[in-house]
Amino acid sequence: MDPQVKAFFDDATNTVSYVVRAPNGRSAAIIDSVLDFDYSSGRTDTTSADAIIDYVTTEGLTVEWVLETHVHADHLSAAPYLQEKLGGKIGIGEKITVVQDTFGKVFNEGTEFERDGSQFDQLFKEGDSFHIGQLRGDVLHTPGHTPACLTYVIGDAAFVGDTLFMPDFGTARCDFPGGSAETMFSSVQKILALPEETRIFVGHDYKAPGREEYAWESTVGEQKSRNVHVGTGKTKDDFVRMRTERDATLGMPKLIIPSLQVNMRAGQMPPEDDKGDVFLKVPVNKL
Ligand SMILES: [Fe+2]
Repeated sequence: MDPQVKAFFDDATNTVSYVVRAPNGRSAAIIDSVLDFDYSSGRTDTTSADAIIDYVTTEGLTVEWVLETHVHADHLSAAPYLQEKLGGKIGIGEKITVVQDTFGKVFNEGTEFERDGSQFDQLFKEGDSFHIGQLRGDVLHTPGHTPACLTYVIGDAAFVGDTLFMPDFGTARCDFPGGSAETMFSSVQKILALPEETRIFVGHDYKAPGREEYAWESTVGEQKSRNVHVGTGKTKDDFVRMRTERDATLGMPKLIIPSLQVNMRAGQMPPEDDKGDVFLKVPVNKL
């Protein structure tokens, strides 16, 4: 049984969010949602999430899952907002605890910030399965970009987050704390071992030289033959050298500081202060 997939592209962060629905019935899952955030003013906005809510409502869908492929560093998750409006369980990889430990220290969150993943409804590990109605999803642990990255394989569709990008763009960076280019290469092999016709849905797109349109869907076969970083003929050594050199030239994503603090809490803001106000921290010279 193969899902119907509806993509939502966020221009501000180049993120692709997905609504995945069973072909029969009304069950659906939302993957990698976006809460809009204007850093200059510190204001959130739900325009992107509301577009998903409109679609789900118009189509009469029942949201069973609100899934994250990983703790994103470039956009805030709208998971709690979507859950409040639409329901569903918020899921992420069990290695979120490693990410929480790392960034709990970076942001000096103290003991009130639990590092056991308890902010999420479901922690998935390699080999777990779940259902969207009668549609089955299988979980692959695909670390490298972050230690907790998952790929959700739902019918003939794989949601790879930031492990693979479009074949002409390649792969995601591996230089965040806990990232590893060696590990990423192994994770990619796991995805490329899926059947050739498996549809690959990526977490971001930035266009690519010679391509003027955003794109987010390819197949395992296309990735194997044409991915510029990991396709035919690319060795692990080539990949690790290329990735390490390239990552050294990349600046931090614009929203990394708010994103991590919010996303490691399953999309919740830090606790209010005694006046009921919410603040995000900026660690100086730490990232
Ligand atoms: Fe990411």
